[in-house]
Amino acid sequence: MPKARHRARTTATRSSLAIAIMAAGKGTRMKSQHPKVLHAAGGRALLEHVIAAAEQLAPAHDVYAIIGHDAGRVREAVAHTGVNFILQAEQRGTGHALMVAELRLKPYRDVLVLSGDVPLIRPDTLRRLLDFHRARKADMTILTAEPPDPASYGRILRRGKELVAAIVEQKSLRPAERHIREINSGIYLFGVKSLFANIRKLTTNNPHGEYYLTDMASLLVKGKKKVVALSAGDHSEVLGVNTRADLASLDARLRDGKAAALMASGVTMVRPETSLIDADAVIGADTIIQPSVQVLGKTRIGRDCRIGSFSVIRDCQIADGAEVRPGCVLTESTVHKGAVLGPYAHLRPGSEIGEGAHVGNFVETKKARLGKGSKANHLSYLGDAVVGAGVNVGAGTITCNYDGVQKHATIIEDGAFIGSDSTLVAPVRVGRGAYVGAGSCITDDVPADALALGRSRQVNKEGWARQRRASSKKKL
Ligand code: UD1
Ligand code: CA
Repeated sequence: MPKARHRARTTATRSSLAIAIMAAGKGTRMKSQHPKVLHAAGGRALLEHVIAAAEQLAPAHDVYAIIGHDAGRVREAVAHTGVNFILQAEQRGTGHALMVAELRLKPYRDVLVLSGDVPLIRPDTLRRLLDFHRARKADMTILTAEPPDPASYGRILRRGKELVAAIVEQKSLRPAERHIREINSGIYLFGVKSLFANIRKLTTNNPHGEYYLTDMASLLVKGKKKVVALSAGDHSEVLGVNTRADLASLDARLRDGKAAALMASGVTMVRPETSLIDADAVIGADTIIQPSVQVLGKTRIGRDCRIGSFSVIRDCQIADGAEVRPGCVLTESTVHKGAVLGPYAHLRPGSEIGEGAHVGNFVETKKARLGKGSKANHLSYLGDAVVGAGVNVGAGTITCNYDGVQKHATIIEDGAFIGSDSTLVAPVRVGRGAYVGAGSCITDDVPADALALGRSRQVNKEGWARQRRASSKKKL
């Protein structure tokens, strides 16, 4: 079959699938001011994990996030994914969340329902669920699992091998049902017609006074519809986050998974369990991550780098062969090939460290560019500075970039030499190959190849100390 035709057919099948992500709840058990689905695990908001999985099955325009509690913030946090939003202004339960979505979901054949607080779900499992649902011609298919501790989850009452009779919430379990280990993951496939033909039959007749989506199982069974269950196999995929302890344990799983994937791709991690690598970070082969390192956000680190312990790197680009010695804090900065940072260097946003350049201990940079092979090895502040290639910035050099109102630039051209403990009062330019004497306060531009001395001449008073000792009868 020609490829194009084949593709057209799969697209047609896919577009009949909508994905609804329930993300409107407050998350009372988190004891938080912030919406639960925006809490992060593995360096990404819970909801972002779920959207990423959803987007493997359907294009963003067929994905609907149902939001309500703090809807503005949730929308803003995930708007970049391009999914649709449906407002559930009052959160009256998971069943109510889908009632609110009825108009938008009606045009589809099936709807995959995901929970914004079940972030580890794998796209492969969702595909398996979809295939199972369609192969069985089911009206509702429930993804289930058997975790070691089923408490806090709804349980599955089966009637036969694949058929389900009902889902019973933890609080409503009868004594005879307490032994049931199979839980409801909160992930379902529904035939859209059957779902909306019956959803108004849900009641709030339960301990929370909410419309439970889980009651759809017994409702559909009563209406002679087909309700089946598929086991996820690996229970860890469907773990939900209800408490901070759940959040910590999922975060640890995501970190372990990320470390394992990096090691499999050729990264050396020494004591990997001590480091935090965010989901979106990329690290090249043969790079060595020493213990207790944080690589956060969208950081990209090249090959053959060495990242020292206790460094925290967020949203940076680090090229091949760079060395970050222990204790560096690097944010939104770029480091070129073979540069050496630290120990204890601080690159603030907008810093760019050139090929083979060195930024040493207790050097802080902000919006500073350091050219190829330049060095600022000790105790400096370089802010709003453009430093050329082959420049030596002496110990303790400070660019005075702020006059209390505005920021100004310091330009140091190629091959210049800045003596130790100099202050460069911006706006100011030090020309190509020029020298600045140690201890200078430079307020005027320095021409190329000149020597600038911005300090008072030294005075030596012969014998002064000896006379003082004599007058105070002190001995040396
Ligand atoms: C739910 C299921 C339970 C299942 C568990 C799996 C119900 C009644 N129970 O319980 O059987 O084992 O998930 O994790 O569905 N939400 C809304 N609008 C609302 C209420 C909730 O969008 O009005 C969202 C929440 O933000 C959350 C998801 O739905 O993302 C699940 O809600 P939650 O209150 O956490 O349900 P559980 O008690 O965990
Ligand atoms: Ca939950």
